[in-house]
Amino acid sequence: MAGILQLLLLISVSVASEPSCPACSKYDYEEKMLERMIHMELAFEKLGEKVQQNLNNIKDEKKRFLEQAEHKLASLMDEAKKNQSSTLQKIEVDSNNTLEQAMAAFNDIKDQIVTPLVYFNAHSPQTSSLSTGEVIMYKTVQNNPSNGYSSTTGKFTAPVRGLYLFLMHTCTHSKYFALLKMMKEGSVLISTQNYDKDHYTCSSSQVFVQLDAGESVWVQCSSGGSNRQLYEDHPYRWTSFGGALIHN
Ligand SMILES: *[C@@H]1O[C@H](CO)[C@@H](O)[C@H](O)[C@H]1NC(C)=O
Ligand SMILES: *[C@@H]1O[C@H](CO)[C@@H](O)[C@H](O)[C@H]1NC(C)=O
Repeated sequence: MAGILQLLLLISVSVASEPSCPACSKYDYEEKMLERMIHMELAFEKLGEKVQQNLNNIKDEKKRFLEQAEHKLASLMDEAKKNQSSTLQKIEVDSNNTLEQAMAAFNDIKDQIVTPLVYFNAHSPQTSSLSTGEVIMYKTVQNNPSNGYSSTTGKFTAPVRGLYLFLMHTCTHSKYFALLKMMKEGSVLISTQNYDKDHYTCSSSQVFVQLDAGESVWVQCSSGGSNRQLYEDHPYRWTSFGGALIHN
């Protein structure tokens, strides 16, 4: 800038020192200076425009850069979110599988260690004369979860394999006999004989027995006749039959 001014000054001095210039007005020097200054102003204006243009370019560049960064960040966050949800999904599937396996294992063990609720109690047998081999039908069923006992056959059928305890309580009127035996399939488990010529009488019999699922236990008359009769006097003397699974 200082160089340009010096140059202008030099030129103007050399022009001004021209002594006999007819066309030159008195103000020629000033006019020329003014003209040059206008040129310079125009040049400066152009320079300013260029600077402005560059500034605008920088602004645009900055805006574009920010937009790109924002876009990149958004897509990274999106990807992270997707990764996260697929990881969670994998964890869920894994947990479900583990849970299912644990449940299956638990059910296996449960069947082995938990004794199911199996027992029954029944009374009210037939009180007519008994004949040999007649199965005693204890008709009033008090408890029978698992429905092992049938009042229509008088037999208990084991729903599961295990160790069972059976009881029979047998009462007779004076002068009447009761000759009963508890049977497992075809074999005798325990027998009882009741008789008193003056009084009512009762007896109780118990037996432990191992049964397979489907095997039956019942009570039958081992010796029949007209003086063979059972007695039941509610609620004092119950002729009854019962049993329970105690171990499997
Ligand atoms: C998304 O998971 C892929 C594959 O496991 C991995 O390469 C990428 O870096 C993860 N992206 C983010 C943002 O976590
Ligand atoms: C996991 O188990 C739950 C409950 O049974 C179920 O609602 C869910 O859909 C299962 N998820 C998968 C991924 O299998």
